[in-house]
Amino acid sequence: MNLPNMLEAKKRDKNAVIDNYKYKEVKIDDSLIGKKFFVRTYGCQMNEHDGERVKGVLSSQGLILTEIMDEADIIILNTCAIRENAHDKVFGFMGLIKKMKETRPNLLMGICGCMAQEESVVNEIRSKYKYVDFIFGTHNLDSMISVINERVRSGKQNVEVYSVLGNVCEGIPESRDSKYSAWVDIILGCDKFCTYCIVPYTRGTQRSRRYEDIIEEVKGLKELGYKEVTLLGQNVNAYGKDLYKDYDLSNLLRDVSNTGIERIRFVTSHPWDFTDEMIKVISECDNVMPYVHLPIQSGSDRILKLMGRRYTKDEYIELYNKIRSRIKGVSVTTDIIVGFPGETEEDFQCTLDVVNECKFDGAFTFVFSPRENTPAAKLVDDTQVEVKNERLHILNEVVNKYSLEANQKCVGEVHKCLVLGKSEKDETKYMGYTEHMKLVNIVSEDDIIGKIVDVRIEEAKSFSLNGTRI
Ligand code: SAH
Ligand code: SF4
Ligand code: F3S
Repeated sequence: MNLPNMLEAKKRDKNAVIDNYKYKEVKIDDSLIGKKFFVRTYGCQMNEHDGERVKGVLSSQGLILTEIMDEADIIILNTCAIRENAHDKVFGFMGLIKKMKETRPNLLMGICGCMAQEESVVNEIRSKYKYVDFIFGTHNLDSMISVINERVRSGKQNVEVYSVLGNVCEGIPESRDSKYSAWVDIILGCDKFCTYCIVPYTRGTQRSRRYEDIIEEVKGLKELGYKEVTLLGQNVNAYGKDLYKDYDLSNLLRDVSNTGIERIRFVTSHPWDFTDEMIKVISECDNVMPYVHLPIQSGSDRILKLMGRRYTKDEYIELYNKIRSRIKGVSVTTDIIVGFPGETEEDFQCTLDVVNECKFDGAFTFVFSPRENTPAAKLVDDTQVEVKNERLHILNEVVNKYSLEANQKCVGEVHKCLVLGKSEKDETKYMGYTEHMKLVNIVSEDDIIGKIVDVRIEEAKSFSLNGTRI
């Protein structure tokens, strides 16, 4: 048993040596071989990718993935802690599994991901949700099988979570959800400590993977037929800073570009670490896609300071304009939080002003949610929930207006789309993404899944485009 500790999780030791090690296979208890498992993942792309590892590790031990929860012998919830509603969803889901366990006592249920790293969550599960069988954290996904085996051996709830600096484990088996577009981690953790954010606590210290390992992985994916890789990190622009003197994201993008894979994307970018050289590489390499997700969070300098974001509104806009003018056909999306503690009407107006100035291609908008142990959770917050929700509503109207405008500009144009599958809304159509990351529902007579095809855009909505393959 090992319990998470949020104070430990906060520590950063500049002199610590972060080790890379290879995944060591552990055999699963014989009683579980051939059993079925179900995984539900919440949260960001990095967590999605971790979900692919949970599936990969269990499949590598002879267990069988099922999409039908009712027939599973093991259910794993790979959780997200970013906002309270992410928590609520998971606790709600746990209630459902409790019911299932009443009629199926051998059903095993596990929790992993970012909520597993939270002290209060684990304490609550230990005292009130004794039917949860095992918990492992983001730092020890590679020891998942040992954690499960120990639960089977002892018959007791097993919690194995570490709040350590964290190393980098290479070679964990993966069952990727797509055959055409793949996630590739490049930097784990985060050291930015934005005052509202729990990620530096749940994911630990910022640590880059070695570029040789990343490039090998991309080459392997290309050989398997993958058309696209998305390089992942909480702040990809900080890539390499912890590992190399003069090798950063611009170098990595060039090297990954040289593998010849058809499409390269990267998320998320923090404005603080965005250099001119990176903009240059994105604009020069044809297979680096012209799309940047650049969270602004607020348009008020006073709030940005309280958030610990390390840039002013003007610095953000300067960078934004550089990206827009130097990268041909680029689209830029952002993240915005409303209702940060102490946000006044004037502060909120500043946010609307920036949105009106930047006219983002899209924005993910959130109401501030206080997170355990973060500095912002301790600030006086006297804005009523109704006011915050109203601000979110007003902001969304403005944001959606510009998304629609940006999408309308595509009508009549021909865009190259990577087709990932059938359209979710209409089975007779296909679904793909343009180079600048716009979702397109495509009419085509042939099966075009997994291909990059030319599509004439005929109609624009706020969140998607409609078009026909030509
Ligand atoms: N690493 C990324 C963001 C990861 S979290 C970055 O820095 O850009 C994704 C988004 O969730 C953030 O950009 C922020 O807008 C939002 N978010 C994070 N913590 C939040 C909180 N406590 N309340 C509301 N929104 C939050
Ligand atoms: Fe959170 Fe800030 Fe790190 Fe993004 S950069 S993960 S918002 S602390
Ligand atoms: Fe959520 Fe953890 Fe990602 S908190 S957003 S799953 S890093």
